[in-house]
Amino acid sequence: MQTKILGNTESVQKQNNVLIIKTKEAEARIWVYSPTIIRVSISKEHSADTSFAVIQKPSNKLEYTDSADAIMISTSLLKLKISKSPLRFNFYTADGRVLSEDDPRFGTNWQGTRVVNYRKLYKDEKFIGLGEKTGNLNRRGSSYVNWNTDAVEHDLKSDPLYQTFPFFVGLHNGLTYGLFFDNTHKSYFDFGASSDDTMSWFGADAGDMNYYFFGAQSVTQIIQDYTWLTGRMEMPPLWSLGYQQCRWSYESAAEVLDIAENFRKEKIPADVIYCDIDYMDQYKIFTWNKETFPDPKGMIDKLKAMDFHLVTIVDPGIKVEPGYKQYDEGQANNYFATYPTGEKYIGSVWPGRCHFPDFFREDVRKWWGASFIALTEPGVEGFWNDMNEPSAWGQEIPWLVKFGDYYMPEVRNVYGMEMARATFEGTKKLLGNKRPFVLTRAAYSGTQRYSAVWTGDNSAYDAHMLLGQRMVNSLGIAGMSLIGVDIGGFTGDPTPELMVRWNSLGVYTPMFRNHAAKGTKMREPWCWGKENEAIIKKDIEQRYRLLPYIYSSYYQSHQTGIPVSRTLAINYTQDSVIYDEKYQNQFLFGDAILVAPVESTKFTEDVYLPKGDWYRLSTGEKFEGKKVVTVDAPLNDLPVFIKAGAIIPMQNIIQSTNEKGDGILELNVWYGKEANSFVYYEDDGLTYDYQKGVYYKREISFDPAKGNITLSAVEGSFTSKYDKIKLVLHGSGNIKLLKVNGKKLVLSNNSASFNNDNKLIKIDF
Ligand code: GLC
Repeated sequence: MQTKILGNTESVQKQNNVLIIKTKEAEARIWVYSPTIIRVSISKEHSADTSFAVIQKPSNKLEYTDSADAIMISTSLLKLKISKSPLRFNFYTADGRVLSEDDPRFGTNWQGTRVVNYRKLYKDEKFIGLGEKTGNLNRRGSSYVNWNTDAVEHDLKSDPLYQTFPFFVGLHNGLTYGLFFDNTHKSYFDFGASSDDTMSWFGADAGDMNYYFFGAQSVTQIIQDYTWLTGRMEMPPLWSLGYQQCRWSYESAAEVLDIAENFRKEKIPADVIYCDIDYMDQYKIFTWNKETFPDPKGMIDKLKAMDFHLVTIVDPGIKVEPGYKQYDEGQANNYFATYPTGEKYIGSVWPGRCHFPDFFREDVRKWWGASFIALTEPGVEGFWNDMNEPSAWGQEIPWLVKFGDYYMPEVRNVYGMEMARATFEGTKKLLGNKRPFVLTRAAYSGTQRYSAVWTGDNSAYDAHMLLGQRMVNSLGIAGMSLIGVDIGGFTGDPTPELMVRWNSLGVYTPMFRNHAAKGTKMREPWCWGKENEAIIKKDIEQRYRLLPYIYSSYYQSHQTGIPVSRTLAINYTQDSVIYDEKYQNQFLFGDAILVAPVESTKFTEDVYLPKGDWYRLSTGEKFEGKKVVTVDAPLNDLPVFIKAGAIIPMQNIIQSTNEKGDGILELNVWYGKEANSFVYYEDDGLTYDYQKGVYYKREISFDPAKGNITLSAVEGSFTSKYDKIKLVLHGSGNIKLLKVNGKKLVLSNNSASFNNDNKLIKIDF
């Protein structure tokens, strides 16, 4: 195999906003995207400059100096020093501290078409990120492959899995940086695992050494920069944040309705029910089984009357069967992936022999999107995209299969995202002004623009539950916020204890979906005995109580890219204890709720509370931070802590997000020594009107020094569904004054209830 090194600089030239450096073997191009983002692309032969992930353009500001041995590119916040001989790329903070450097020996080089970048590894360097991956929060000492795979029955170490997020954050010497390797080929990351701890490296089977370097000095800012570059989620439909019940499969309309009715009968809140593959006629996408689902609209109307939304599954494989609409249309218009000979590729999946839509073509995406009319017309509002790695039995889709202008190995990692995109764009059109809910199993960087993800076929054991939480937290770093894991474990049967425990964690999982494989025992909340049902119900009710806070947290993701579930590494980056394997699963749910997942076999737990003061949610007990505390963790009380100073809006228990409730927004404030604020956000939860200013937003702040709680004036033209506000103060401290829209109110005790009729105060709720 031919090995090529990058070699020495032969020429330097600026063309518009790109700096081009040529060596004998290759060409490096450098762009500045923002003061904290610089892109480097090195190639022997640059391919067309397209990206599925990036939605921004480089800036026109590229300032550099060129001396005999180095080129210096500087922004106000970041420096890139390019050594000329050999050509190496080294990043520094504006004041010259080392962020990340090429390994001086190897830098970037090639073996055949494979391209690799070797980097210096610092003694204390940690790595977080890469999205849905097994292993520890700190990825130092691990290596990974990105090759979207139907990872059936994956275990705690399996790799690769379903999704590709080639983005990580490096931490050392109190500094932070991020790196996004935007290359869709099979890619590799090694964080000092296999090189005697001397270097880290990443690379791909082919394509360019094309990466974006992020130099911001906080993980929060790096995530904001990464999601600025690759996009942020739209506001999700509010109903998708309620409880979701799924199973492979509810076999008939009667069963679907029966399950929905039972939720209402048992008074267990829920919003969503799913139809897995068996609703279709022989697994033919966009069809309904006429015997078991004879009247889809009738069924959905009944579900709607019970305040349920229906999500149905779609897989990419289109059954080879003349006479089947999607097959005939795809055939007639050449919408399916082919071999270079023009012959259509056939792989076998659930329906048997299938063709695969070429989602890399716009006309195919349009056709696919329009086909959803078979589902939207009867009233489906959520679209679950599965098997889109793409999966075909045997897994190895021949390399000669073409998607768009690409061969399979070039874009396999993006197929799922392009399917989700086609689904999202198509259903958005079909639903008019309503927000579709899209869920996908396979993904690439940028998927947050179109879809939620879930972590695939997990298993019903404790360690898998904890792994799932780490994956959710890690996906958050990669810009994904709306994420589910199959609560209870897809494969196998959970013990009642595990089911109860996992459900309690589900309350604090961004997307709260119970799902199970065919052949497993029924999983619904009432299948676990009356006592357990009561705990499960209480936990689901807690989810609904928290929805005003959760929805506002999604607004934060929509605006900034900061995920709803946050590894502690986002806010407490420099606290080394949080990387300890004992505490690495802990996370913040939104700004202020710390959750410690606990196995179902343990009833006390050591929890690490980072700096600050904390209150246990269930008992109100106060704890000092920067300490490990040992707390009770019975099955009916997952250790959940509230940060002192937290402002958490809640509502009363409702049975679904369709219900208005009692009209009272309960504003909970936990006393703390430090000032804090929270952006409360509300809109209709259903349409795109929020994009036209029809929302309700106000800042709520707490200032212990002055003893004030302040509600700012309202922004936006939406009328809140709450007409009263109830202030609930927790902990002991002195609150003297409530200020609303600039008006003051003196508080007589620690809790007060106000409404619009109250002469003293005018609150717009
Ligand atoms: C795949 C999915 C799973 C689904 C099943 C049947 O295994 O990951 O969630 O239930 O297919 O469609």
